[in-house]
Amino acid sequence: MNRVLITGSLGQIGSELCTFLRQYLGSDNVLATDIRKIESHPVCTNGNFKILDVLDGDNFEKIVEEFKPDTLIHLAALLSATAEKNPQFAWKLNIDGLFTALEISKKYNLKFFIPSSIAAFGDNTPKIDTPQDTIQRPSSMYGITKVSGELLCDYYHTKYGVDTRSLRLPGIISYDTLPGGGTTDYAVEIFYDALSKGLYKCYIDENSSMDMMYMPDTIKAIVQLLEAPSENLKHRNAYNVSAMSFTPKQIAQSIKKHLPNFEIVYEVDPIRQNIANSWPDSINSDCAKNEWGFSADYKLDEMVEDMLAKLKEKGIGC
Ligand code: SER
Repeated sequence: MNRVLITGSLGQIGSELCTFLRQYLGSDNVLATDIRKIESHPVCTNGNFKILDVLDGDNFEKIVEEFKPDTLIHLAALLSATAEKNPQFAWKLNIDGLFTALEISKKYNLKFFIPSSIAAFGDNTPKIDTPQDTIQRPSSMYGITKVSGELLCDYYHTKYGVDTRSLRLPGIISYDTLPGGGTTDYAVEIFYDALSKGLYKCYIDENSSMDMMYMPDTIKAIVQLLEAPSENLKHRNAYNVSAMSFTPKQIAQSIKKHLPNFEIVYEVDPIRQNIANSWPDSINSDCAKNEWGFSADYKLDEMVEDMLAKLKEKGIGC
């Protein structure tokens, strides 16, 4: 990985991955793209940036021809809750966009990364210590696009030799860019409301457990997977990865250690709760550890301490 094009780079993962890769590879070797431009955003001002709608295959190809990347990191997608509100468009963006990105990767011989998700599992999946290889059959449209994406990436690898790689990411917690339209977003929102209001109204039931990972571990995992020797990757699309698994009640307890007056109340949103119920409680990441050395540094309490400190530095709650 020497020269990278990122789609969806103004999103939660894209914005931080872009900043990291500009430092890691040199700013000239990263091209950030997104469907919109935010004039003052560091992703748009601190390096190469182009507007790209991934459904516009001609423009996508033109940008690749001009920039000549060796790696494509494809992050443009709808997340689970938004996808459930507009399933037709979710299928179009998440699948047609992926298909276009894979065709371009095949034509220009690009290494390819796309995130899959814990959403690629479903009601019949074993909930605890969910194995790498198991029943998937997701019920949300987002999950359906993710499992289809895993299969499509395997197809392009075995049929055309495209170097496709993917992670089944859990909920990602970060302090830079807010997530948009996911089921796990509560685990980020809770920090902002804890600091600014002392109260968080949670849309997920207090005892629903889901996998999560802090952003520094997520960036580390993506880069490590992209740099792993190809011949080591037996489960390339896609690896289970998780750093922690907790319920809203457990994260609230961890926040209370720093903010004793913080309160959480529950107003469950049936759409997002249904999605959460269909996902695993905790997934097993051993395969990623064994094939390319995945490891995560942050567990719940370390992540909470760091999130609160970083958000206070940003002036949240002051
Ligand atoms: N964070 C994502 C979501 O909630 C899971 O992949 O949609």
